[in-house]
Amino acid sequence: MDKNITRRNISFSPPDITELEIEEVCAALRSGWITTGPRTKLLERRLAAYIEAGRTDIDCENTEAMNRYSNRVVCLNSATAAEELNLRILGIKPGDEVIVPAYTYTASASAAVHCGATIKFIDIQKDGDPITHMPEMDYEALEAAITPKTKAIIAVDLGGIVCNYDRIYEIVERKKSLFTPIESDGTPLGDLSSRIQKTIGRVAVIADCAHSLGASRVFRGERKYCGAIADFTSFSFHAVKNFTTAEGGASTWLPLDGIDNAEIYKVFQLLSLHGQNKDALAKSKIGAWEYDIIGPWYKCNMTDIMAAIGLRQLDRYLGLLERRAEMMKKYDEVCAELGISHMIHHTENMDSSNHLYLIRIPGIDVETRNLIIEKMAERGVATNVHYKPLPMMTAYGKDCSTYPNAYDYYRNLITLPFHTLLSDEDVDYVCDTMKAVMSEVKR
Ligand SMILES: Cc1ncc(COP(=O)(O)O)c(C=O)c1O
Repeated sequence: MDKNITRRNISFSPPDITELEIEEVCAALRSGWITTGPRTKLLERRLAAYIEAGRTDIDCENTEAMNRYSNRVVCLNSATAAEELNLRILGIKPGDEVIVPAYTYTASASAAVHCGATIKFIDIQKDGDPITHMPEMDYEALEAAITPKTKAIIAVDLGGIVCNYDRIYEIVERKKSLFTPIESDGTPLGDLSSRIQKTIGRVAVIADCAHSLGASRVFRGERKYCGAIADFTSFSFHAVKNFTTAEGGASTWLPLDGIDNAEIYKVFQLLSLHGQNKDALAKSKIGAWEYDIIGPWYKCNMTDIMAAIGLRQLDRYLGLLERRAEMMKKYDEVCAELGISHMIHHTENMDSSNHLYLIRIPGIDVETRNLIIEKMAERGVATNVHYKPLPMMTAYGKDCSTYPNAYDYYRNLITLPFHTLLSDEDVDYVCDTMKAVMSEVKR
């Protein structure tokens, strides 16, 4: 590396917050309504419009948009909560099996554990999907793993790259005869879960879209945005994500024949707010103090302060995605020059949300990978690893021997810093640092 290049400090993924978000948060604080309220409801409708139309400029405060986009998205305090509520609405319970890729973050699996289900991990395809190189599930192994106990498959759009949902749906349709829906237990939740399972009539497809808000893929011959593909979807708005509300997340689902979206939305609200049948806004109406507790449920609602950040982030989101795509080209070029493999975020049929830039360095082991990470850090470049496969973790048994492809993918993987606070000069600095470090280590 040229000795004259001035050292820079490149963080891994700081939030991109402008005065617009700060002003909206202040407005929320001054408004007198800081918990779940009008800003959260507006963000829900705007997200629903974005998922349906790919547009962030639809006015969601007029009556037509209220009718069209209400009861479609539920904002919550994290993606983990969103995934757990997706599973609880579906009626996932002890004795059920939920299939999860071995190559993901713990939240993809832990939400199912919280519901008492048994996790079945699936290895990934060797070196990931042949076109995108995303560590996507081995679909043959997925098909073989479905049993009469399987109730859901969690597909993970890692880094923003959308899984092959056509293939996943084909598999669950083929295995339909193994599926038996639960019967209603007579409670409002149990009754809804039973009707949902009967309507879906097969293993449910659940998308972990923590990384992929705004990503799209041709699905059943038509381009669809994440959130409009899987039976149920969860998004993350955590501080490191492309789109943030500090912490936060959202659930959405595909409309189900014979079940009103308003009913599903209402049950999400109950599950996220203690099972209380009136939220704070409803209770604040004159003489309306009295409420019932329908079930001893959870507390994971989004506040209007968080939603305030989200509203202004959404105004900027298409621009943020464009900037990410621009930076990505530079990384792609340097990877080609160095003979390093990377995920492909855009194909004829798919456009990723460009969330994570994963590279794999041919021929190196874990120690060399870690040495490269250290050397990059010494030069001020923070990197990361997405992910250490879940079966390697204490909580999941610390044994990856039956998931060789997941281990192999992780062995030589590094995630480069990738965020919209990087200037062109920062991106050049990361590229130059990579070149310098690669020339120093033995491959
Ligand atoms: C793949 C994946 N799923 C789920 C989550 C959980 O998101 P949250 O922190 O919003 O609960 C994360 C968080 O990083 C993630 O990477």
